[in-house]
Amino acid sequence: MPSEPQVVLETDRLLLRPWRVADAVVQRELWTERDPRVPSHRRIDADGRPTVAELEEAIRAGRPSSGGLLAIERKASGDVIGYCGLIDGQGAEGEPELAFELLRRTWGRGYATEAATAVLGWARSSGYARLRATVWEWNTASRRVLDKLGFTETARKEVDPVRGTTLFTTKWL
Ligand SMILES: CC(C)(COP(=O)(O)OP(=O)(O)OC[C@H]1O[C@@H](n2cnc3c(N)ncnc32)[C@H](O)[C@@H]1OP(=O)(O)O)[C@@H](O)C(=O)NCCC(=O)NCCS
Repeated sequence: MPSEPQVVLETDRLLLRPWRVADAVVQRELWTERDPRVPSHRRIDADGRPTVAELEEAIRAGRPSSGGLLAIERKASGDVIGYCGLIDGQGAEGEPELAFELLRRTWGRGYATEAATAVLGWARSSGYARLRATVWEWNTASRRVLDKLGFTETARKEVDPVRGTTLFTTKWL
């Protein structure tokens, strides 16, 4: 799992770097913006948790939730707009899973594709042969990003009558 804390990836417009405690505010904004169909354990609960302080603590502790996921910073403005990275492999072959999420106000400018392309290169140079990614069938933007990156759907699907169907995709590096 390429989760060395010091890794920094650079693209034309972006730096992908380890989380800093000050980025907890952005993490919380991402939590608040999530689609209501996203499972509740990934959304702010009725008590307003996780709080910024809890997210700060998780970053300080280097918890797995922030481990292989790199903060995306825009080089021109220095602001953090989301994350992209790899989550520990849970597939049969243990291949890592690509993940990305951006603040809504930055959508539609190619940032996810640009960031994920850098992460694919990182995974390749770390020796991985294949990545996987899961995506809700209703998540058109994310499906389009995965398509642009060259991920293809496998036969596996998980149907949840409330939240929708999860598609399993894969890409050889
Ligand atoms: C998925 C996400 C990261 C995309 O970020 P982004 O920076 O806007 O992505 P990009 O600009 O690189 O590419 C988005 C593509 O989807 C297309 N798209 C976006 N919304 C769309 C829609 N509703 N219908 C059709 N196409 C859509 C865009 O046109 C673009 O494709 P194009 O380059 O062919 O025009 C962002 O929407 C997000 O954070 N969503 C919530 C979290 C999430 O879903 N994460 C992924 C979980 S699998």
